[in-house]
Amino acid sequence: MIKFLDIAEQDKKIQKLIFNDIKKIIKNNNFILGDKVIKFEKYFAKYCGAKYAISCANGTDALTIALKVLNLPKNSEVIIPAMTYCSTAFSVINAGLKPVLADIEHTTPTISCDEILRKINKNTRVIMPVHLYGSVCKVDEIKKIIKGKKILFIDDCSQAHGAIYKKSKVGSISDISCFSLYPGKNLGAYGDAGIITTNYKKYYDKIKNFRNLGSSKKFIHNQVGFNSRLDTIQAAVLIRKLKYLDLNNKKRQLIAKYYSKNIKNKKINLLNYSKHCVFHQFVILTKYRKKLINKLQDNNIPFSFHYPFALNQLSSLKSFFRKKKFPNAEQLAREGISIPINPNLKNENLVKIVKVLNSF
Ligand SMILES: Cc1ncc(COP(=O)(O)O)c(C=O)c1O
Repeated sequence: MIKFLDIAEQDKKIQKLIFNDIKKIIKNNNFILGDKVIKFEKYFAKYCGAKYAISCANGTDALTIALKVLNLPKNSEVIIPAMTYCSTAFSVINAGLKPVLADIEHTTPTISCDEILRKINKNTRVIMPVHLYGSVCKVDEIKKIIKGKKILFIDDCSQAHGAIYKKSKVGSISDISCFSLYPGKNLGAYGDAGIITTNYKKYYDKIKNFRNLGSSKKFIHNQVGFNSRLDTIQAAVLIRKLKYLDLNNKKRQLIAKYYSKNIKNKKINLLNYSKHCVFHQFVILTKYRKKLINKLQDNNIPFSFHYPFALNQLSSLKSFFRKKKFPNAEQLAREGISIPINPNLKNENLVKIVKVLNSF
């Protein structure tokens, strides 16, 4: 049976080690922000090539905390892409700021720099692109746009652990980087988890306190913060899994290469991904989505949508973006189908998937 994702199978080799780590944590009564958390933060910062990493409870909190610690005025605007998971927008709203949508490029899954230029104004304080599906956005162009302005670059890296942009890892190429470590991510815990990286001590200090109820020392709470701490057990899982991130990303890249080379059907379009994309998802586009879904179902091929709605189409967000159109994001929502890119897929599965797509 072809599986869209199979975390248990992926982690088979390290499960015993993880169980032993968990037993030790229970034995030592070391559940919250324990030494494994500190170790994971150190290892993850090193992996990304960033000076600092601060773990937290999930990716949504990572984004919200990164925005909160900036203490921006109420009317400040944050430019985000119109195609992403709802959390990117919710974090802006929950931080008390105003989300401004920019469409994605027609041929890639990431934010359009022309759209950023159209949306930028005197209230813009942050550009927050998403490296959607593991494809890195146009980092240098964004940096050029904000150069000399009081605008920060915070990237949502929740789908791009290990992706490389011009020799640097995602997590080290912006002012503040935010990652979800949700189980299904390229690096995922066995529950909710998140992490923030930065090269700036001033952000590191603020974020570290903020995620622990504004506390730098037990019972000293100098600011109002979140309770967004990482469980020691999740940190232990993540330490074990970090060692396999590059290998699993490589497997995803090989599957993507196979799809790109072999999917040949005029009814199916492929997106352009960045050079060292880590393929959290592989999304194909078709105007005949309903029919193709039926065909996939008939052949027991799992699929998903990332995402079936552009942000302006979500009922919770409609009032923010009334009457605005984002044709490229809306096309992706309407025509996109995510096909399996689970690193454990066997060659025979890939051959079958491509055969079904090409015969459609
Ligand atoms: C692009 C993006 N941003 C933010 C998040 C939110 O992360 P979490 O579910 O860990 O809160 C996700 C997770 O799905 C995501 O894919």
